[in-house]
Amino acid sequence: MAETANLRPRRSCLAVPGSSPKMLGKAQGLPADMVFLDIEDSVAPLAKPEARKNIVAALNEGDWGNKVRTVRVNDLTTSWTYRDVIEVVEGAGANLDCIMLPKVQTAEQIVTLDTLLTQIEKTMGFEVGRIGIEAQIENALGLCNVDAIAAASPRVETIIFGPADFMASINMKSLVVGEQPPGYDVGDAYHYILMRILMAARAHDKQAIDGPYLQIHDVDGYRRVAGRSAALGFDGKWVLHPGQVEAANEVFSPSQEDYDHAELILDAYEYYTSEAGGKRGAVMLGDEMIDEASRKMALVVAGKGRAAGF
Ligand code: GLV
Ligand code: MG
Repeated sequence: MAETANLRPRRSCLAVPGSSPKMLGKAQGLPADMVFLDIEDSVAPLAKPEARKNIVAALNEGDWGNKVRTVRVNDLTTSWTYRDVIEVVEGAGANLDCIMLPKVQTAEQIVTLDTLLTQIEKTMGFEVGRIGIEAQIENALGLCNVDAIAAASPRVETIIFGPADFMASINMKSLVVGEQPPGYDVGDAYHYILMRILMAARAHDKQAIDGPYLQIHDVDGYRRVAGRSAALGFDGKWVLHPGQVEAANEVFSPSQEDYDHAELILDAYEYYTSEAGGKRGAVMLGDEMIDEASRKMALVVAGKGRAAGF
């Protein structure tokens, strides 16, 4: 099974603006698998210095339970990134799991962040290499380089689709983030992008994460869109509102029925193949033929179910 199964679950990845102490407090009590405390696009330029301070305090003083704690810094073409990284990692590195880098365009940008993190970890006496990187793909160049980005550092844990910036960067004719562009009625306009990200993630044992759905009160719409990336194999999706958290946790977990069936396949395959003295590769489970590939497929579903606490 791919190593990705061993990474912590990220079915629901909650965005929390670093400029809002109220939301930084509220997020701690929500059942999201991951939070990312934002200093990028949800925070106005003049509010960024204050957001850095709020985030350091919230990481050090808050109770985040088992959540993966990530901070999204500004992208490397801005003048803010170095200060974001230094202030947050020096201030709260021991209570932080990952840095999310938005609008990644090249592998070199990942290497730059990796180098900066290593220097801070050494200076502060932190374990070198513990802090991971989450890479957001948000434009055409990033997508063209996504394989190299995924392979650029062992710190990279996730490849994330950023649909809003991506649509803008390729001139897609839509204003509703997450929904199909009007006029394109022959398929899913995001299929290629999602699959390209998923292939890069799987090729390098990273998690693949789908981005936001901005109609925050339309939970049915969220489920519909999340269901597509979940069906392809994505590990999770952003949530922008408490109302989306449970939907994400459900959509990115297998149903009880699928989980039970997967465990049955695993048990049956082990039982029948060992009964045959290790001399049969394909066996019957009721009307269904199962073989080594079926075992691997079942392991994916069972692994997601076990991680979800089934
Ligand atoms: C997220 O950052 C997006 O641009 O969709
Ligand atoms: Mg973006």
